[in-house]
Amino acid sequence: MIRTGFVLTLMLLGAAQAVAADNKAPASAKNYQWGKPLPEQVAIMKLTGDIERGREAFQGCRGCHKADAGGILDGTYPRLSGQHASVVIKQVTEVRAGARVNPKMEPFSSEHAVTPQEISDIAVFVQSVESNRENGKGPGTALARGKQLYQSGKCASCHGEYGEGIASKAYPVVASQHFGYLVRELDFIQKGTRGNSHPDMVKAISQYTREDMEAVADYMSRMPDYRKVAQARPK
Ligand code: HEC
Ligand code: HEC
Repeated sequence: MIRTGFVLTLMLLGAAQAVAADNKAPASAKNYQWGKPLPEQVAIMKLTGDIERGREAFQGCRGCHKADAGGILDGTYPRLSGQHASVVIKQVTEVRAGARVNPKMEPFSSEHAVTPQEISDIAVFVQSVESNRENGKGPGTALARGKQLYQSGKCASCHGEYGEGIASKAYPVVASQHFGYLVRELDFIQKGTRGNSHPDMVKAISQYTREDMEAVADYMSRMPDYRKVAQARPK
């Protein structure tokens, strides 16, 4: 029995490495359907998170996302501070289920690493953090184009005029996110290698060139923290 389990573990590790190597969405990601929340996501949304417990549990995440949840400037690790708890829960549970491809993080967010209650606690903790660290921004050379794409391309209808997202629908905050991360995600979303993406968004960016992605990402990265914008009312 032990031996079978061991071999199986090796096979699973091998599969994870294959995903990392060619960055193709696994079979589970192909079955992903937006608007059909995973049972674990629904269950965690019903729990009550605790900010102090979340600060403790976040220790397992700090190596990459940093103690203030600000991520890193070049966007290798995204900023989580101020992100809606609903978004954090959706993304972590989908990484666990293999619906979002993220082999680097998987061992730290798996069932062996964090419990459902800890995910709920971490989600309210990171949502509450205000990181004062600079975020990575683009070259600033195509901001008018970026603004036009953002406002005319339906981005604003889901991510908000101020990049504040919509908490109740788990639409992410994009304001003040690192430029490098935003460009990478747009590329993954367009290619389908992220796994979980809203189909309307995939449509909205299907014709984007690399320059368009960089322009719109630059614009989003320069939006101030929405909590400091009086008109940005979280929905
Ligand atoms: C080994 C590094 C690493 C660790 C540790 C790690 N993450 Fe991540 N995380 C990443 C990377 C890399 C991404 C972005 C993946 C991509 O490019 O799509 C990410 C993305 C995320 C996202 C999605 C953000 C968004 O805007 O969609 C959330 C939420 C998240 N991590 C939460 C956590 C939590 C909670 C923990 C601890 C339990 C954790 N991470 C531990 C590397 C890590
Ligand atoms: C119908 C709603 C909708 C529209 C329209 C939309 N998005 Fe999104 N976007 C989402 C959702 C939901 C996610 C999170 C991925 C998921 O779980 O499906 C997301 C994720 C993202 C991400 C990754 C953020 C992160 O934290 O990982 C970026 C960047 C992004 N969207 C940019 C855009 C841009 C630019 C446009 C306009 C061209 C756009 N989106 C249009 C709903 C939308």
